[in-house]
Amino acid sequence: MFRNNRADFPKEFLFGTATSAYQIEGHGFGGAGATHWDSFAATPGNVVRAEHGQRACDHYHRYAEDLDLAAAAGVDCYRFSTSWARVMPEGRGAPNPEGLDFYDRLTDAMLERGLKPCVTLYHWELPQALADLGGWRNGEIAKWFGDYTEVIMSRIGDRMYSAAPINEPWCVGWLSHFLGHHAPGLRDIRATARAMHHVMLAHGTAIQVMRARGMGNLGGVFNLEWATPVDDSAAAQQAAARYDAIYNGFFLGGVFHGRYPDLALEGLEPQLPQRWQDDFATITAPVDWCGINYYTRKRIAPDTGPWPHYAEVDGPLPKTQMGWEIYPQGLYDFLTRTAREYTGDLPLLVTENGMANADVVTDGAVQDSARVAFVDAHLDALRRAIAEGVPVQGYFLWSLLDNYEWALGYEKRFGLVHVDFDTLKRTPKASYHALQSALTGAR
Ligand code: NOJ
Repeated sequence: MFRNNRADFPKEFLFGTATSAYQIEGHGFGGAGATHWDSFAATPGNVVRAEHGQRACDHYHRYAEDLDLAAAAGVDCYRFSTSWARVMPEGRGAPNPEGLDFYDRLTDAMLERGLKPCVTLYHWELPQALADLGGWRNGEIAKWFGDYTEVIMSRIGDRMYSAAPINEPWCVGWLSHFLGHHAPGLRDIRATARAMHHVMLAHGTAIQVMRARGMGNLGGVFNLEWATPVDDSAAAQQAAARYDAIYNGFFLGGVFHGRYPDLALEGLEPQLPQRWQDDFATITAPVDWCGINYYTRKRIAPDTGPWPHYAEVDGPLPKTQMGWEIYPQGLYDFLTRTAREYTGDLPLLVTENGMANADVVTDGAVQDSARVAFVDAHLDALRRAIAEGVPVQGYFLWSLLDNYEWALGYEKRFGLVHVDFDTLKRTPKASYHALQSALTGAR
C-alpha cells in the first residue's frame, strides 16, 4: 500500500506512467528504418550481452493489452514516444505509412481507454541514415527534426494532450558524445558541444513547428541530478557547481534564460558552432510547462584530470538495482529551485521517477515493496514542494513495463508490470496493485 493517495493531491493533479518507443515497441518490423541504437548495440562492448531493441516488449503488437494495464492502474496520462525511424525510415523524405498508422492506432487506443496522450518526439533512437551524416553533430539536424515533427504531428497532433520534443537533452549530448555510454558512443568534446547545442536548437525548432500548427500544452523534459559536494572544501563546491552547470544549468539555462552557464562554457565554448548565440532566439521559444525526470543525486569530488575537473564518488545512501542512491530530498530541491531560478509560475511536471529492482515472479506475484517505498518517499517530497506553492501539476512513474534499459539491457527492471522477456508474459507487480488502490480506491 502507498501511504500517499489521490486525495492527498490537488484535484487537478495528474498521475501517469511513462515509456519510450525503442525500449518497448520492438523495432524489427513495420517498415521502421535502422537506428544508431541498432548499430551501437551490435558493436561488442557497448551493451550488456549485446542486447538490442529488435523485439523488446513487443508492444508494437501488444499495445492494446499494455494500455489496458495502464488504464486499469487508474492513471490519467500515458507518456510515450514516437520513433523517428519508424515514421521516416531514412530520417528525411518519404514517411512510412505503416509507422504513421501505428501511432494513429496507438493514440486512439489511449483515448478509448480515457488516457491522455503525452507524446515525446525523440527518445534517443536516431535514424541511422542521419547518424551517417553526423547525427547531432550536424547543424542541419534541427531542420530535419522540424520536418519530422511536422510529419508526425500532422497525423496525431490533433489528439495529443501534451507534447515535448526531446527526452533528456543531457543524455543526447553529454552521455552519448562525451562519456560514450549511449549511441553513438563518442568520447569527443567537440562532438559533445555541438550535440548539446544542436539538441537545444532542435527542441526550439520543434516547439515552433507545433505552435505554428496551433498545438498547445508544449514542454521540455529535462533530467536533473542533484550534485552534492563530497566535503566542505571550496574545491569540492566548485566541482559540484561545474557538474551542476553541465548537467542541469546548460539545458534549463538555454531554454529559460537564453544563455549557457559560464562553468559549462569554460570547456565547451571553443567547440561550439559559429554564431551559436544567435540560436537562442529559437531555443527560448516559449513553453507551457517544464518536465523534470528525477532519479538520484551524485556526490562530486574535485579531480586534477582534464576539464571538467570532477569525479563522481560512491555515496553512503541505500541504492537501487542501478547502483543509484535513493535521495528524495533532491526532488524537493529541484522542484523548488527550478521554480525559483528558471520557471517561476510555469507548471512543473515530474515526467519520470522510479527505480530499478531485481524483481522476480514467485507463485505468480512480484513483491516489490522497495518500489512502493521509493515512490512514496518521492511523493512526500513532491507534496512538500506543492505545500510551499511550487506549481507541480503531475507525476509520471517510469515505467509501465520492464523494458530495454539501454546499455544495461533487459536486466534492470523499472516496471510496475513485470515482463518475462522469453515468453513476453506481463505480470503486474505489487507496486502496480498498490498504485491502483492509491488512485482508484480499489482494494
Ligand atoms: C531516463 C530515460 O528517459 C529512460 O529512457 C530510462 O530508462 C530511465 N531514465 C531509467 O534509466
